[in-house]
Amino acid sequence: MCGGVKGVLLAGGTGSRLFPLTRITNKHLLPIGDRPMIDYGIEALVLGGVTEVMVVTGGTHAGEFLRLLSNGHDYGLDRLNYAYQDRPGGIAEALGLAERFVADDRVAVMLADNIFERSIKSSLERFALQESGARLLLAAIAEPEHLRHLGVPALDGNGRIERIVEKPTDPPSTYCVTGVYLYPPDVFAVLPTLEPSGRGELEITDVNNHYVATGEIAYDVIEGFWGDAGESIDAYYAVNDHVRRNGANRA
Ligand code: G1P
Repeated sequence: MCGGVKGVLLAGGTGSRLFPLTRITNKHLLPIGDRPMIDYGIEALVLGGVTEVMVVTGGTHAGEFLRLLSNGHDYGLDRLNYAYQDRPGGIAEALGLAERFVADDRVAVMLADNIFERSIKSSLERFALQESGARLLLAAIAEPEHLRHLGVPALDGNGRIERIVEKPTDPPSTYCVTGVYLYPPDVFAVLPTLEPSGRGELEITDVNNHYVATGEIAYDVIEGFWGDAGESIDAYYAVNDHVRRNGANRA
């Protein structure tokens, strides 16, 4: 594979799980530690060697991202672009807005409410060496109750992903699919084949299951803490506590 890796940071949605905090701002602008949440996603991508990012946002507070991030230069980016999602259609639909920006490059997609204790750089390096296909970052999660709110892979005896189940009632493993998805440029040909799920969204899990079906999916199990700060108020504070104690995106 040739070409660079562009970053797409998804920062839309209504943030309904964090109401009423998210009535007055976008979820990804709420504080984590001493910084707005989205800072950590930008930092994760920059530390991973990404120099061009598109932030996809929506809703009523989109202008605040420009005020915060400006042209991205202060964050170490060469180029920062923005796209606006005018209806909540899911992660995969939001990714579709970045098609022309990504063009023939590979893409590191990141949900901007996902916070990693350790840098994702090594996964991006392995992805760069990968011949083809996608790469996921999995986190070990002990509690079945937590896994029921996430995407969960079923693994065969040889450590290969057999399928990914979104929000399973009966989690098929003790890993979750985190919100970092590394895709080849052909991901944009997969998106038009998706059908809306029960929650009326184009699911990123269906994109990942496409690469499972073609046998073109690799993964890393991350080290250190991972949290989705948008999952619930409890998760938001758990992530905050963790970042204040241990930092984020550490080498
Ligand atoms: C999304 C994905 C899910 C993934 C999670 C990680 O869930 O659909 O597979 O495990 O992000 O944060 P959502 O936040 O849309 O419920």
